[in-house]
Amino acid sequence: MPLTIDQAIKVFTDPSAYADEARFFEACALLRKEAPIHRYEDPTGEFNPFYAITRHADVLEIELHNSQFINEPRPVLGPASGDRRNAENGHMLRTLIHVDDPEHRDLRGVTSDWFLPKSLQKLDARLADLAKRYVDKMASMNGTCDFAQDIAMQLPLNVILDILGLPESDYPRMLKLTQELFGASDEELSRGSDPEALIEVINDFFAYFTKITEDRRANPTDDLASVVANGRINGEELTMMQTISYYVIAATAGHDTTASAIAGGLQALIENPDQLELLRNDPSLVATAADEIIRWVTPVKHFMRTATEDYTIGGVTIKKGESVLLSYPSANRDETVFENPNTFDITRSPNKHLAFGFGVHYCLGAMLARMEIKAILTELIPRLKSVQLAGEPSLMKTTFVGGLKHLPITYELV
Ligand code: HEM
Repeated sequence: MPLTIDQAIKVFTDPSAYADEARFFEACALLRKEAPIHRYEDPTGEFNPFYAITRHADVLEIELHNSQFINEPRPVLGPASGDRRNAENGHMLRTLIHVDDPEHRDLRGVTSDWFLPKSLQKLDARLADLAKRYVDKMASMNGTCDFAQDIAMQLPLNVILDILGLPESDYPRMLKLTQELFGASDEELSRGSDPEALIEVINDFFAYFTKITEDRRANPTDDLASVVANGRINGEELTMMQTISYYVIAATAGHDTTASAIAGGLQALIENPDQLELLRNDPSLVATAADEIIRWVTPVKHFMRTATEDYTIGGVTIKKGESVLLSYPSANRDETVFENPNTFDITRSPNKHLAFGFGVHYCLGAMLARMEIKAILTELIPRLKSVQLAGEPSLMKTTFVGGLKHLPITYELV
């Protein structure tokens, strides 16, 4: 039975659909072709209505019109009960993704210099060191590991917590908390299925980072936590809510996203041995390979915007107050922008993927993420004599951020 539009639109609210890529991409392709701006009214009422935006050009247009489409009050898809709670009590966090200009611009200004290429350059040697440490770890594992859990999850966490300046003994705790926050719909990762469990996770973040803030205000160092703790907006300290939210977004946004790209990238290379061979023979392809991996995996599945006025796009008028879901994986397989979008091609250039979003909210860590992926490929590929899957890879069930949960492999390293 051919898929219908009514069935296809349901993938965006269904965490298990994202874990079944063939089904997910079939639905996106149908929507791009037949109903690229399609309003979904959930018959169960679990989710408030939204328009799913599936074409590259439309995602771009909405991202660029950031006064007509804003992040508040619904930056991410969640159940209607959560939307109601947020409307009544405000969001539990106030991170960059929860706010709009001018607050957004001011907040982003606190750390934007820190993420500029010239500031990040100093991390190159540290990233190369860390990449070596993790490939050495692979070498010590007798030719078999769960690459997603043992390597891909660990490296970006290590990088971001190192940048923040947190002690290594706290890394396992942060790993658990970020997975509980993002994997909230996946029973293997979440703390519990009720909303209270998520509130508990956020409270744990608050407790941990309140201590860090107090410490960095008393004893500033050159780490990112000190930049945030001592940041000023119009001469004023950030509020505690803004400060804690900043750590949470840095610790979380920089972690599962990059981890998913690294694991998904290796899977794509294993499944496309010609591309692995190409990269092995020409390491200078690492930059285009990193971007193709990011396009291929698209670890952030969506963000949402809400219209501040009636806005007509692609012949559809989105009314003031209605929300749109920007589907990055769909935009990144748009056949009008990418030649052979379903082919993994590490030489793809230009690669106008939207995996980092676009416009004022464009991923703050895009450069860092690329550097991390390049560092691990640069260390791993020349040492990887052979590699194969040792079991079924499995994807996280999530509608927001994620990728591979498990990638069992066997390998020989030189
Ligand atoms: C492959 C890895 C990554 C992907 C795919 C990714 C993707 C994204 C996307 C799609 C957005 C929203 C953009 C928009 O609304 O237009 C975003 C925002 C953000 N990302 Fe990333 N990200 C990655 C890695 C990182 C890293 C390593 C950091 C480091 C701290 C980071 C920090 C942030 C922050 C702070 C924001 C909020 C920016 C704002 O709203 O102004 N991300 N990211």
